[in-house]
Amino acid sequence: MKPIMIHIENLTYSFNGHPVLKDVSFGVARGDFIALIGPNGGGKTTLIKLMLGLLHPNKGKIEIFGEAPAAVSHRMGYVPQDIHINKNFPVSARDVVLMGRLQKQRKFRYSNQDHFQVQKALETMEMWEYRGYRMDELSGGQRQRIFIARALATEPDILILDEPTASLDTPGHNMFYGLLKELNHTLTIVLASHDVMLLSSYVKSVACVNQTVHYHDSAEITEEMMDMVHCPVEVIAHGLPHRVLKTHKTES
Ligand SMILES: Nc1ncnc2c1ncn2[C@@H]1O[C@H](COP(=O)(O)OP(=O)(O)O)[C@@H](O)[C@H]1O
Ligand SMILES: [Mg+2]
Repeated sequence: MKPIMIHIENLTYSFNGHPVLKDVSFGVARGDFIALIGPNGGGKTTLIKLMLGLLHPNKGKIEIFGEAPAAVSHRMGYVPQDIHINKNFPVSARDVVLMGRLQKQRKFRYSNQDHFQVQKALETMEMWEYRGYRMDELSGGQRQRIFIARALATEPDILILDEPTASLDTPGHNMFYGLLKELNHTLTIVLASHDVMLLSSYVKSVACVNQTVHYHDSAEITEEMMDMVHCPVEVIAHGLPHRVLKTHKTES
């Protein structure tokens, strides 16, 4: 058995008295590549913020490496859903990645180690040659890689990405997931996404998030998953490798 890195037990989270997540229990093991799928408003981002310790459960518990999430947030690399950058602010791709190091250590000067990790992260994302570009000179997909490089530069054990492909076209998605699959050799990955069929050839497990969470210990796509995200027909028609449709076990 691989060690459990994220442990969630009977977790309930309400916002202004409205339940967002109800009685959620599942675990993420080391080396997992888990997709959080579900409709808009289903609670994926909320679940991620609970993992990062930015929100706290009303009931139940969530532990990362056996500790409170906020105590170990420096071991998680986070790529948020909406990244706002001021396009008029003349910051280079490399600066953006360096800022990730700053965030981690709350200090005011960069060390050689900072510069080394930044170069390594940019090289991993195949963006080193773009280091001098301003963010507004890069394509959506390239910007996305810079934000992932920023997360990687913090040397995380877990990489958490919230709908990172929103700005990519379909061929871009395949390349992007291929990259994540490579990273998964050394990192545990949590990925919120809508691309159900596409994902099935890359991820190792799936959690369907819609107030409650159904955890699936494999990447096989179920009818509920398709229904849940209103998966567009053209995605299925791509004929990408996918697995047999199955239904959830009967719920109480
Ligand atoms: N800060 C907030 N303000 C307003 N609504 C919120 C807030 N946080 C969570 N919610 C509510 O929680 C639910 C889940 O949202 P979210 O986690 O963003 O879902 P998803 O990421 O799956 O689209 C939504 O119904 C949303 O209205
Ligand atoms: Mg979201």
